[in-house]
Amino acid sequence: MTKSLLEEVMTVSLRRGILYPTAEIYGGLAGFYDFGPIGTRIRNNLIRLWRTRFVENRDNVFEVSGNTLLPSPVFEASGHLDHFTDPSASCSKGHITRIDQLIEERLKIPAEGKRNDELEAIVREKKLRCPVCGDPLGEVTSFGLMFGTSVGGERRQAFLRPETAQNIFLGFKRVQTAMRAKLPFGVAQIGRSYRNEISPRQSIVRVREFGQMEIEYFVDPDQLDECPLFEELAPIPLNFVTREAQEKAAKQSATDFTSIQISVQEAFEKKYVPNQWMACILGDEVEFFKLLGIPDQAIRFRHMRPEETPHYSGGNFDLEVNLSFGWKEVIGNAYRRDHDLKSHMKGSQKDLSYDLEGAKVIPHVLEPSFGIDRLIYAILEHTYRPQDKTRGWNWFQLPPQLAPYHGVVLPLLNRSELEERATTLYSVCRGQGLDVLYDASGRIGRRYARADEIGIPKAVTIDPQSLEDQTATIRYRDTGDQTRHLISEIPNLLKLQHDFSSFFRLSPKP
Ligand code: GAP
Repeated sequence: MTKSLLEEVMTVSLRRGILYPTAEIYGGLAGFYDFGPIGTRIRNNLIRLWRTRFVENRDNVFEVSGNTLLPSPVFEASGHLDHFTDPSASCSKGHITRIDQLIEERLKIPAEGKRNDELEAIVREKKLRCPVCGDPLGEVTSFGLMFGTSVGGERRQAFLRPETAQNIFLGFKRVQTAMRAKLPFGVAQIGRSYRNEISPRQSIVRVREFGQMEIEYFVDPDQLDECPLFEELAPIPLNFVTREAQEKAAKQSATDFTSIQISVQEAFEKKYVPNQWMACILGDEVEFFKLLGIPDQAIRFRHMRPEETPHYSGGNFDLEVNLSFGWKEVIGNAYRRDHDLKSHMKGSQKDLSYDLEGAKVIPHVLEPSFGIDRLIYAILEHTYRPQDKTRGWNWFQLPPQLAPYHGVVLPLLNRSELEERATTLYSVCRGQGLDVLYDASGRIGRRYARADEIGIPKAVTIDPQSLEDQTATIRYRDTGDQTRHLISEIPNLLKLQHDFSSFFRLSPKP
């Protein structure tokens, strides 16, 4: 039987230390994966790129690092305790099924956001049954997605955060006063979030513990159409799925939506998005994606339908990536208005307003929320290259900025003079801050394969000629071509691919 793309990606990932199930030797725990040494390098590189572009290169974005366990009143105020649920139903054998997903998969109709009674009516009418055992399904109820626990001797109720965003709202006043931040400013956080998903699936695409990189941009409600990045981002094209396109597709029972191409400027001026800030956030993401190895045509922004959008939102626009099992949300972009700060003002009885020249203002919030794990899976799938006639192994064409190492140094033969020369080069590269790997074991072809499999862009080989003329070959992962260079030039040649200047050109001054 041929493997699906997901299975192929996972086979290499498991073998090469990118990912593996958590507690695998005890049979694992559904919805939990660990990143291995190679996956951790890729993950760290992704985080580094994100942080460089969206935090360090911006004068008015501040990064915080909050705890993952938060007291219950936080989630009473935010609404998560009452509303952060998924519709579910059990069969007589106790299997729990997420009903909106079951309906979408079986009947190919949108079901997210429908009320439990509406979903139950569909289940009865279409005679949907438990996908595990085929038994009839019971009542559709709301399944709480947060993991709860109790803290200390007094057993105070607390929950693992389902999004990193809440710490940002809780610390808003501290950050604003400590940094003397003036609107508009952003607070960013990279960290872990937890959701007790009813049916985790597709490796790290839907898991119960995952990483998020979120920014809350706090903006004067009167200046939502004055984003400092607009001029730069205005021409960037966006693949955009309107609500109308989704309604049309639903009427025609079509399984996919037509997207249109509009610029950031048009998205704002023709009111596809609620404000200029949102248009810029989408354009900024398109620019970021250029570095990730995911082609432009494989990303689109979908305007979430009303039933998928929280009542307080001024518009949600998911960045979706086309994967082998359909379009999947990888970034949630939301215009949250003043909902969060207002809710926490009410819940905590603390003043979280901003002093705008003597007037008390509750800033409005725009939030791009990146899922780290989903993004890594999307990158792996889009950079995966199956073996072919010229290359007898599967490999990843990872962009050099994401690759786990800049290069690998290989002595061609098991001879001490070659190994000595190779280890010296390896040390020189490391001394210059390059992340290089040294690999002396096995046939050279096998070593090229191992390097390709984890996406290392360049392999440097020290061979007998190196001893005579102080040169070495560089083999390029993408083409398999080789060129010969002076060994003294090699560190610089490995470095060249890491020129970020064009990528990080945006640096607005306040
Ligand atoms: N603060 C807003 C927020 O959390 P979201 O759309 O629920 O918004 C943002 O989540 C991103 O987090 C998603 O686009 C996705 O990449 C990631 N994410 C959410 N649930 C996930 C899960 N169960 N497994 C993996 N990633 C998930």
